[in-house]
Amino acid sequence: MNDRGVDAVRKAVCPGSFDPVTNGHIDIISRASNLFDEVVVAIGVNKAKASARLFTAEERIEMLEKACSDFPNVTVAGFDGLLTTFCEENGIGAIVKGLRAVSDFDYELQMAQMNSSLVDVETVFIPTSPEYSFLASSLVKEVATFGGDVSRLVPPFVLERLTSRLAERAAGGGR
Ligand code: PNS
Repeated sequence: MNDRGVDAVRKAVCPGSFDPVTNGHIDIISRASNLFDEVVVAIGVNKAKASARLFTAEERIEMLEKACSDFPNVTVAGFDGLLTTFCEENGIGAIVKGLRAVSDFDYELQMAQMNSSLVDVETVFIPTSPEYSFLASSLVKEVATFGGDVSRLVPPFVLERLTSRLAERAAGGGR
């Protein structure tokens, strides 16, 4: 740990809701894992937002663990509260965010500046690969809800979970 409380090992966090994880997320996590010694994928498990989610925190964590199993330096964790507190508690000096388009930038810049005003943390932006520039979990859920083909946008095991969760919901049951 250096004199500012940051581990000398280059440790980064990829934060998000991941409801569910998409191929776009995996692209960013994979590229972050090439840049940093250790990457923690941190899933916001804010209980106040739980009812707005399609998948529970445990389900999202489980899917991400599977999606990241090929990356030896990537771990998955849930976090509640401020991302900057999670960074401080885990000796993390960098937040990695994917930027899909200029429209992402305004809000991401604001969050990056707020976060660095709170603790000593840098935000690193990685441009999304062009094939995923339109991809968002919310759109995947919407398209899948109406029967659209999202099989190229999420891993096969996520597609399976998504299809069965949406079927449960359509039948009036489920979460
Ligand atoms: O996938 P999302 O929904 O864009 O992820 C947003 C997330 C979880 C990264 C963001 O909402 C977040 O950092 N939440 C933790 C609460 C926090 O630190 N808020 C202050 C942000 S400046």
